[in-house]
Amino acid sequence: MASRAKFVAGNWKMHGSLESSVQLASAVSEGTASLSGVGVIVCPVSAHIVSVNQAIENSSVKVGAQNAHHENSGAFTGELSASMLSDLGCEYLIVGHSERRQLFGETDQQVADKVEAALGHDVTPIFCVGETLEEREAGNLEAVINQQLSAVVQRVGIDAFAKVIVAYEPVWAIGTGKTASPEQAQEVHAMIRTMLSSHSTEVATAVSILYGGSVKPGNANDLFSQADIDGGLIGGAALDADSFIAICQAASAV
Ligand code: 13P
Repeated sequence: MASRAKFVAGNWKMHGSLESSVQLASAVSEGTASLSGVGVIVCPVSAHIVSVNQAIENSSVKVGAQNAHHENSGAFTGELSASMLSDLGCEYLIVGHSERRQLFGETDQQVADKVEAALGHDVTPIFCVGETLEEREAGNLEAVINQQLSAVVQRVGIDAFAKVIVAYEPVWAIGTGKTASPEQAQEVHAMIRTMLSSHSTEVATAVSILYGGSVKPGNANDLFSQADIDGGLIGGAALDADSFIAICQAASAV
């Protein structure tokens, strides 16, 4: 792995009671306390953010949210803004997760709005891109990733990517147990870096690109050892403290 900043972020999705979220956060905080060289982030449901933040108060673990509305405030029943999440202590925001794109119809333009909103409140976006199996099999991988990336680059400008984390999550590997092979993942990570370097080599070289999609303790090391993979965005395995800690250890060790 290059000398870029490495991160392992746990996307807890819509899981956990208040009690179990606090317990998981405390266990992650204890279990990763001695690790160096990796930023550890947990992203609970928004309702648990305050309690999770208290549970990890004196640790290096950071809290992120899974979604935000792009406006600061207004008549948007049921929504939360990036500024409100920032007030709660969120330093990171997952944006454009494939579940948001597919299940909630988020468009590339809405994703760009949200990345822009997060950056406007000093919240680091974890900006997700990824193709479906159909898109991959139809030979559209490059076009899909390019379109998803370009929408955000055009909106916020390439220099803003100095404060963006990119996550490549092939949709077919999410929650399916099918992981992209380290070589398949590396190929797309390198492609993303090349696309960004057409705008700025400096920014492209420095940006952290995380891999997500069935990362487990058993495959983390092989994935994280790839030249352009700078850590992971973890779903299912992030709900188990021991598994998540082992994945953080793998990122710290490479
Ligand atoms: P899994 O690790 O469960 O495949 O989920 C990946 C993911 O969607 C993380 O955002």
